Amino acid sequence: MTLLENRPQTAAAAAERVATRRRYLMCEPRHFAVEYAINPWMDPTVPVDRDLAIRQWRALADTYRRLGHHVEEIAPVEGLPDMVFAANGATVARGRVYGAKFKYAERVPEGPAYLGWFKEAGYRVAHEPAYVNEGEGDLLVAGDLLLAGTGFRTDPAAHAEAAEVLGLKAVTLRLVDPHYYHLDTALCVLSERDIAYFPGAFDAESQDVLRQLFPAAIIADADDAKVLGLNAVSDGRHVVLPLEATELAKKLAARGYQPVPVSLSELRKAGGGPKCCTLELRS
Ligand code: ARG
Repeated sequence: MTLLENRPQTAAAAAERVATRRRYLMCEPRHFAVEYAINPWMDPTVPVDRDLAIRQWRALADTYRRLGHHVEEIAPVEGLPDMVFAANGATVARGRVYGAKFKYAERVPEGPAYLGWFKEAGYRVAHEPAYVNEGEGDLLVAGDLLLAGTGFRTDPAAHAEAAEVLGLKAVTLRLVDPHYYHLDTALCVLSERDIAYFPGAFDAESQDVLRQLFPAAIIADADDAKVLGLNAVSDGRHVVLPLEATELAKKLAARGYQPVPVSLSELRKAGGGPKCCTLELRS
């Protein structure tokens, strides 16, 4: 056996993971609250510490900057407590924007608010959607694939519409557990061809599709899923994830990724984690 073969797999894998600089859009939780319940995590009778939410959100933005990424901010709108979840505001690939159309009345005004930001920022293709879709909450870009969730929020008809606008190939995935109401609560894109996911969130057919497309995927367990561990943001090397997702962090490290734990306990009361707060602006 040569020295190389004897080396721990982690070191070999780590050498291959390359971070690329990203641009993210975020929205400060200045008006954050849990005033209605549109997912099982939300309980309006549980108090929320908004100042703590803001501090945790700032630490997340600072983490991205420290990793070398660029953070843009959209102004929060009073009366839209969930607007902090920027991932839901649109889906962006190749500089093209597919707008969001929210399912629940409480969040509907966020769609035009986000689309307005893109138009002002000079994006020429900023498509107003015909079908209900909650942006990157359910539409995740992995290379030339658009992993597209449905079951709770996004209309499956939006999958083809988004794929057409963005020039990607849609793969429909059906969510079955209401705790994992958005695709990004159960699946994380780590790199163009690598994902982590919690199989229990998907129907049997979608589990088959995921197994076939990503045979080497990291499989997360229920404990990591229930702290929203999969609601993570990867730059190809660093993976920013909730600090409670300790097993998932170990699995990532064993595969050469560098876990970057953050605390977002207040935003989790609305059913959100790091990824929910982060919309990637892909050029
Ligand atoms: N309270 C929000 C909702 O139910 C949370 C959204 C979380 N965002 C996400 N990308 N999963 O719509």
